[in-house]
Amino acid sequence: MADASPRAVAAQSGIILLGPPGAGKGTQAARLADAMRVPRISTGDMLREAIAARTPLGQQAGPLMEKGGLVPDELLIGVIEERIGRRDCIGGYILDGFPRTIGQAHGFEKMLGGNGANGFVVFNVEVPRDELLRRLSGRRWCPKCQATFHVINNPPKSNLTCDRCLTQLIQREDDMEAVVARRLRDYDERTAPLIGFYRSRAHFHTVNGHRPVEAVFSDLTAILETAR
Ligand code: AP5
Ligand code: MG
Repeated sequence: MADASPRAVAAQSGIILLGPPGAGKGTQAARLADAMRVPRISTGDMLREAIAARTPLGQQAGPLMEKGGLVPDELLIGVIEERIGRRDCIGGYILDGFPRTIGQAHGFEKMLGGNGANGFVVFNVEVPRDELLRRLSGRRWCPKCQATFHVINNPPKSNLTCDRCLTQLIQREDDMEAVVARRLRDYDERTAPLIGFYRSRAHFHTVNGHRPVEAVFSDLTAILETAR
């Protein structure tokens, strides 16, 4: 019988995490990546790194991200193509924040060749809007190792320093109230249509993300164990 462990599932293909800002994609992707020993590919983190390093990509993305807008599809498609071509992705990978538009999903299918996203497991993480706002306003983030905390739900052990690398935590610029409104609008208009897109193209599962982190994680791993 085929090995159906989460690691085996990731090794055969990949995992895509869909969901609005604050749904917990990054939190769950980090746990899944640790459990499966495959890379987590977060386009948000990659773009923030590019901004910090002042690369040409960062210079294009920075002003858009500050206002909560999406970065153009062609830039993201190039970033992902380069990233999944690296050796550490041979055994599978977890996509957190990509694809985010129908254009990106088509670009990704093309990149994968004939099979498209057929072998992928897609998780659609659902969380009510008022809870998203609570999570984003309380999020604190480590600019060095990119660990994520929450002042109430997942506080750092020592006040406002990262548990992993002791760097001072910060609030992301795009977690300010006015910017969050724009990100949620973009999600509704440009990312939510991916739910219909992937429902018929991948192993698609909607997960209730409005529960403790551990409970959501248990659901994801249980689904992965039965996905094949
Ligand atoms: P990105 O960094 O991807 O942001 P996002 O999608 O807006 O999502 P978030 O990181 O805000 O939320 P999350 O779902 O990861 O939640 P998290 O785990 O942190 O993108 C940022 C920007 O980059 C975009 O706006 C865009 O400009 C650009 N960009 C990125 N990718 C792009 C693309 N493909 N195309 C174009 N542009 C792109 O959790 C949130 C908080 O809740 C945390 O504090 C956490 O501790 C807490 N929490 C998590 N889970 C739970 C739980 N179960 N219970 C209670 N609290 C929880
Ligand atoms: Mg994130």
